[in-house]
Amino acid sequence: MSDGPLVLGIETSCDETGVGIVRGHTLLADAVASSVDEHARFGGVVPEVASRAHLEAMVPTIERACETAGISLHDVDAIAVTSGPGLVGALLVGVASAKALALGLGKPLYGVNHLAAHVAVDQLEHGPLPEPCLALLVSGGHSSLLKVEDVTVGVDPLGATIDDAAGEAFDKVARLLGLPFPGGPHIDRAALSGNSVAIDFPRGLTSRKDVERHRFDFSFSGLKTAVARWVETQQRAGNPIDVADVAASFQEAVCDVLVRKALDAAQFHGIDDILIGGGVAANSRLRAMATERAAARGIRVRVPRPGLCTDNGAMVAALGAELVTRGRAPSALDLPADSSQPITTVVA
Ligand code: KG4
Ligand code: ZN
Repeated sequence: MSDGPLVLGIETSCDETGVGIVRGHTLLADAVASSVDEHARFGGVVPEVASRAHLEAMVPTIERACETAGISLHDVDAIAVTSGPGLVGALLVGVASAKALALGLGKPLYGVNHLAAHVAVDQLEHGPLPEPCLALLVSGGHSSLLKVEDVTVGVDPLGATIDDAAGEAFDKVARLLGLPFPGGPHIDRAALSGNSVAIDFPRGLTSRKDVERHRFDFSFSGLKTAVARWVETQQRAGNPIDVADVAASFQEAVCDVLVRKALDAAQFHGIDDILIGGGVAANSRLRAMATERAAARGIRVRVPRPGLCTDNGAMVAALGAELVTRGRAPSALDLPADSSQPITTVVA
């Protein structure tokens, strides 16, 4: 077993109750309880339902993680928890639980940034992060390009979405196509049998004029509207909708823009390593396209396995372990949950 601090991480920013346990860069347990089925009929996460589900799942999920890791809570060196950004009621359950553990066990508490944790999790799979690296973070709530020198100190935001997040676009387009929530995995699957050049959907913020102002920013709401218009037009004309073709063409448009801008940002900043994280990083086309196009430019791409891309507790534990290893100061015990914690604040 590798060395390093034993850290328990808690994630409750959205609809997954995640409890992860790591020792340094070694993953020992990653227990996740999801309330996604309870939200499916609403077509999106209902905050109150998510908070209640976190409350019910927290203790059993902590117990399951400890059992899998073969540790007692008294063994841990620190407790880490997502303090933001996320749904405030959901975050509060995790933060209150982590405070109780830290206080009861007499261990330091680290309130960490959810996005920085999505970056740090890759260490569990591929070892220490290249420094610097260019992170493309794509989830249901965020789409950002970040320059990361040292994930425990801070990240430098280079660009972000100006409207919908990439995952949000996947979820909305899936709904339009009659696919279940969350839509990303369903579009990914449907696209496998579709033709990605069947429909030429727009690539947001890639025109010459847009690039001048928004070189490293994203926009997906125009694409979502274009898919809606296309579907409406076909329906009005009485044509059947080929869900696989729409899914593949839409997915191609999203991935094309994400990869193009990530590569452009890496080259502009002279960075040779790209790391992709967040739920959308589980997308099979995004992983393949990024790896292929980056290789052609001599840039390396790291993407954690799909289970570590979507929200989980291991990512929080991974960042916590790095903070302990690098001797960063812990949070105060009156740590608040901050629904809009800025990406520049790694530890609250
Ligand atoms: O990181 P995450 O689990 O939660 C947030 O922090 O938002 O990301 C969830 C998002 C959802 O929008 C979901 O549809 C998307 O990630 N997603 C995918 C795939 N798996 C999850 N999007 C595209 N392809 C996938 N395979
Ligand atoms: Zn996330």
